[in-house]
Amino acid sequence: MALKNINPTKTQAWGKLTNHFNENKNINIKDLCKDKNRTADFSLELGDLSVDFSKNRITKETIGLLVELAKEVDLKDAIEKQYVGAVINVTEGREVLHTALRSNSEEPILIDGKNIKPQIQTALRKIRSFSNKVISGKWKGYSGKSITDIVNIGIGGSDLGPDMVVESLQYYKNQLTTHFVSNVDGDHVSEVIKKLNPETTLFVIVSKTFTTQETITNAETLKNWFLKSATIFDIPKHFVAVSTNLEAVDNFGIDKANVFPMWNWVGGRFSLWSAVGLSISLSVGYDNYRALLDGAEEMDLHYKNTDFENNIPVILALLSVWYNNFYEAETEAVLPYSQYLKKLPDYLQQAIMESNGKGVDRNGDTIDYQTGTIVWGSTGTNMQHAFMQLVHQGTKLIPADFIGYKESLYGLTDHHKKLMANYHGQIEALAFGKSKEEVYLELKFSGEEDKIAKLLPFKVFEGNRPSNSVLFDKLTPHSLGKLIALYEHKIYTQGILWNIYSYDQFGVELGKELAKKLLNTH
Ligand code: F6P
Repeated sequence: MALKNINPTKTQAWGKLTNHFNENKNINIKDLCKDKNRTADFSLELGDLSVDFSKNRITKETIGLLVELAKEVDLKDAIEKQYVGAVINVTEGREVLHTALRSNSEEPILIDGKNIKPQIQTALRKIRSFSNKVISGKWKGYSGKSITDIVNIGIGGSDLGPDMVVESLQYYKNQLTTHFVSNVDGDHVSEVIKKLNPETTLFVIVSKTFTTQETITNAETLKNWFLKSATIFDIPKHFVAVSTNLEAVDNFGIDKANVFPMWNWVGGRFSLWSAVGLSISLSVGYDNYRALLDGAEEMDLHYKNTDFENNIPVILALLSVWYNNFYEAETEAVLPYSQYLKKLPDYLQQAIMESNGKGVDRNGDTIDYQTGTIVWGSTGTNMQHAFMQLVHQGTKLIPADFIGYKESLYGLTDHHKKLMANYHGQIEALAFGKSKEEVYLELKFSGEEDKIAKLLPFKVFEGNRPSNSVLFDKLTPHSLGKLIALYEHKIYTQGILWNIYSYDQFGVELGKELAKKLLNTH
């Protein structure tokens, strides 16, 4: 049941793609888009999501060859193995089953002969009942008052996912105020403490290992602060944990009844769908949390069951490989046109770069081709006034995903029209640019003919800069779940194409070890 081990650069498809690239590398998106059917031919839909990838340096032949590559590395087999619970995280000896967490199907998934679905359901019921008690005010703190503030203490996957989702779903939020403490920087936790009342605060310690230096340090600091006003007998009313390490949780003083499970078959950066998402459920209510999971499941089923030509995560992954490995693009931008999604780029940086930033293949051999892309971004329209100059006129090729919504949440139509005009305007500007002739005529007809000689080259936009439009009807818990799952599957697809293991993260260990050593010697 192991993943196959196929060097992509040794496949026939890679050879064909190399020839195809050499023959077509100068193709121009503007010319390609003269074809009236182009948008229809290079768009995919899934319910409330439409993805338009027509503004890329690709032809139907490019997609055909990229799909051939996916078939030759046996992506199908890799997808099936992930869903049924094969040990595809080989270096850590683990299954990878975040998809099982959101599955509504009754079909069993066996680990060591035991169906994991019932434990998932039990955990969800516990999340629901606990969230309901806290939100309704029935859960009381040590002085008999209801909870007003939630503090999520965690880092990496135990922080970024919940933090990003809570921020993104602010519109759906209830009366509880949610805080996130992650950095070991004591000023971070101190600033959060300033806003808290120990009588009405609930601390959610999220750590799969319960050994992470940052999390345990912050948790101890918060516990000590809490104990200045309360006693250890009050801890059960104010501290809960999400972890696999029950002994360490017990040593910390947390009541067994207040422990929510985590499992080794869920990776940290893919864990917001487990009890790691407890802060999400507390913030927006269980029904919205379940809708998030259902949205992800819709994407899971699409990814699992759709042929590669029509498979949204697969197509986006293949395009990314096309630019990364053939055009030698080094980075990709993620540009959400929603202020709610301002934390999405940070979240995706961990998900993508911790997963695919690998230099050794599944054989253990050093790789001589490029892997993991560098991801960065910010929200539109703010970033148009920040870094977009470089994306439009700089020397680097930066493929971009524009994420947008047809409808706004508060219905300020004037704002939304302007926002979306900018969304489409940026995509067009990148793709089609502005030619010398256009600049010439523009200056001439605006009465600035005398400036033509001086200004013309600076006002030209080369264009031919690729982007994808990822457009949803509306930002809802369901559509957010779908969006996150889309990127999760893109990550795995790229890992398979590059013949690497996407689900380990040994690269973060050395720095941790050295920090420990240095701490002991100073
Ligand atoms: O950054 C490394 C990492 O291991 C992540 O994969 C993980 O999400 C994070 O640390 C936190 O780990 P834990 O949940 O065990 O505290």
